Amino acid sequence: MKKVGFIFDLDGVIVDTAKYHYLAWKKLANELGFEFTVEQNELFKGVSRKRCLEILLDIGQIKATQEQFDTWMVEKNLDYLAYIENMDSSEILPDVPRVLDYLKEKNIPIALGSASKNARPILKKVGLLSYFDSIVDGNQVTKAKPDPEVFLIAARNLRVDPKGCVVFEDAVAGIEAANRANMTSIGIGEENVLSEAHYNFKDFTEMGTDFIASLVQKNLAK
Ligand code: BG6
Ligand code: MG
Repeated sequence: MKKVGFIFDLDGVIVDTAKYHYLAWKKLANELGFEFTVEQNELFKGVSRKRCLEILLDIGQIKATQEQFDTWMVEKNLDYLAYIENMDSSEILPDVPRVLDYLKEKNIPIALGSASKNARPILKKVGLLSYFDSIVDGNQVTKAKPDPEVFLIAARNLRVDPKGCVVFEDAVAGIEAANRANMTSIGIGEENVLSEAHYNFKDFTEMGTDFIASLVQKNLAK
């Protein structure tokens, strides 16, 4: 059992894909005859595709048959895949590679803990796949965030005690999942939204390497 591991959420932490998810959901909403706003899209962060569609249909007050539901799930994902088709390393959020490089240099295991079923191809497109010792995504979890399952599987794969894991998250549900997993949670985004996080940063440019080093030291001492 190792003492320290780092787990990254994908959407909104490593890459800014929320805008593409938004465009794909908006297209579907418009086809179904209603509007879907950027503010409403906030509710979708960290939430599984299926749950997002349920919320979307609630917003539009639309009752769907199982067949329609399944068709719209596929349609949204095909549109999303078209938006991310040409993604490249320019879409990595600022200073993410600096943090990943530091952890690699210190031989600290790194995992991905994401609700997305598209995580692996996205990491490949932006050229970050090789940094990850384990990738846990929407294809492996049965319980969505805020359930801690995704992060507990990641810790197990890294062979790190959950209490030695540090999680970077941009979603309220993700912070709750990390806290329930007994891990150190770091909110990336608005502090007033991610108020349950143990630490908050607007983005990685605000997070000094000395802070990461101090987290490593703290967890080694646990
Ligand atoms: C999360 C996103 O990472 O993945 C959510 O924050 C998204 O907005 C979820 O719905 C599922 O993603 P995908 O790619 O499997 O549809
Ligand atoms: Mg996210």
